[in-house]
Amino acid sequence: MCGIVGYLGKRDAYPVLIKGLKRLEYRGYDSAGVALITDQKELRVYKTKGKVSDLEAYAQDKDTSGCAGIAHTRWATHGEPNSTNAHPHISASGNLAIIHNGIIENYAVLKEGLQRNGVTFQSSTDTEVLVQLIDYIQQKRNVDLLTAVRMALRQVIGAYAIAILDKNDPNKIIAARKSSPLVVGVGEDEFFIGSDASPLIEYTDKVVYLDDNDIAIIHRGEPEAEFVNFNNEKIDHEIQTVDLNLGQIEKGGYPHFMLKEIFEQPDCLQDCMRGRINVDANNVVLSAVIDYRKELINARRIIIVACGTSWHASLIGKQLLENICQIPVEVEYASEFRYSNPVIDSSDVVIAISQSGETADTLAAIELAKQRGAFIFGICNAIGSSIPRATHTGCYIHVGPEIGVASTKAFTGQVTVLTMLALALGKARGTIKNDDYVALVKELNDIPEKMKKVLEQNDRVRDISRVFTYAHNFLYLGRGYNYPVALEGALKLKEISYIHAEGYPAAEMKHGPIALIDEEMPVVIVATQNPLYDKLMSNIQEIKARKGRVIAIVSEGDEKVKALADEYVELPHTIECLEPLLSTIPLQLLAYHIAVCKGKDVDQPRNLAKSVTVE
Ligand code: G6P
Repeated sequence: MCGIVGYLGKRDAYPVLIKGLKRLEYRGYDSAGVALITDQKELRVYKTKGKVSDLEAYAQDKDTSGCAGIAHTRWATHGEPNSTNAHPHISASGNLAIIHNGIIENYAVLKEGLQRNGVTFQSSTDTEVLVQLIDYIQQKRNVDLLTAVRMALRQVIGAYAIAILDKNDPNKIIAARKSSPLVVGVGEDEFFIGSDASPLIEYTDKVVYLDDNDIAIIHRGEPEAEFVNFNNEKIDHEIQTVDLNLGQIEKGGYPHFMLKEIFEQPDCLQDCMRGRINVDANNVVLSAVIDYRKELINARRIIIVACGTSWHASLIGKQLLENICQIPVEVEYASEFRYSNPVIDSSDVVIAISQSGETADTLAAIELAKQRGAFIFGICNAIGSSIPRATHTGCYIHVGPEIGVASTKAFTGQVTVLTMLALALGKARGTIKNDDYVALVKELNDIPEKMKKVLEQNDRVRDISRVFTYAHNFLYLGRGYNYPVALEGALKLKEISYIHAEGYPAAEMKHGPIALIDEEMPVVIVATQNPLYDKLMSNIQEIKARKGRVIAIVSEGDEKVKALADEYVELPHTIECLEPLLSTIPLQLLAYHIAVCKGKDVDQPRNLAKSVTVE
């Protein structure tokens, strides 16, 4: 939800900032802007509606010199996406430029106060209010920038990651965070700021992740950044080494990040399981389960909170944990949970699942559950993000940076961690038979190879997608473990091709969706040879009887369904509870190819952002 980047050092800031913005574009892409200061204390701001490439085109013939700068790519919250509302915003005195990710919730009250004191505003954003407030305090109280920032932030309610440039001090950038991510990169005689580490890894691997209410002051020429809290008390931050390489955040020959990430899944799952699954010893070892054995195995109930694709993974987690560990599990949308006055106490374990580790609703759900005494376990991808830091313990999914806005490899990574968690807990609780445990560990270990077989059918899925680009509606059906897969398949299609799609438990079709079926209506059904196979066959017959078009995801060699369906994709056989790891892939590919056929922007679909750090 908005990407921010800053640079202060010896290089030209502009190319560093533009490259950094491109890496952060997954966070928002409706407008972009940059502010640069030269050593001669000239402040230049260029901003425009559209993507970072539009900003580049706009600034092509402009003066982009200066070794200090800040830049922003926006996902609009307050004010429509146009160049006026684009960041950076400049204060009335013309001295300060600010970039901001988050929401200033009390901006209206603050704005009124400032207007009463004669301050005029250019934009309709909450962000401009903050820079005007800092400027106003600085002028009125005759204080330095840091003092003005501290005083202003004390008045602000909301979430922010900000960076501020002062025209009169080209050697300094001040940045601060509350509930929105912010990283400071420390190079040799240079500093970087980013919403995540991706803009800076090509220059340094030394980073500091800011905590809430931290203010960072970076000074050209100083070896280290300085950190204080709102009371100006010094904070010691350890410099961490970030383990990211450029290859992980580039397309590597694929036309889109989404396709790259779909194809990466076998390797990602191997990374996810590395050191955790030992097939020779028939064992799953999760350090979190060893360290917090008592809290986890004695859980009276588990509540999983998540949003979007992570919520779909949670629905699979519920079935895994209930079946393998015999613990009752509830799955909640984090956005509903946080306002629901839930009945929870210290005997409950709350699992928070999030790819980005920054989703505002999931973070708020964690805080609420913590207040009520629950033990919190996080399942996240982004290392060092806010959710892993807010939880008692957890597991990273280790699938590497996910950049395509539509989540793919994070979903299968989350399901893999949930499977390992269920196995480790099930064994510790004695709720899984040893033979079943051994078979599942072995089969999970073999899943990456089986995924490769599914990916080999990419051309077949591409051909199928060409047949169905005409459709305005799609229905996705599945049962049991494959019901959440149907939901996820429908979500993928909606997100990137803008075709309306609904996921349903197959047996519920007759209670409504069947009315939609005619010769125009494609129905994607996961109809593998699991215990409900016969029921799924009946559903296919019902669809065919109404002339619906069936795209079936079938078990390898199942001639019966292949003969009935209009189109099919085959999956290698596996144990039922592991099927989602395979059945998801053709649905990801189908959504991808339909969107490509329709000429849509696969990696940056309209109105969406990858990391939703606002409510
Ligand atoms: C956004 C993204 C989705 C993601 C959801 C939850 O809506 O576009 O792809 O599933 O947020 O994000 P999280 O990072 O918490 O998994």
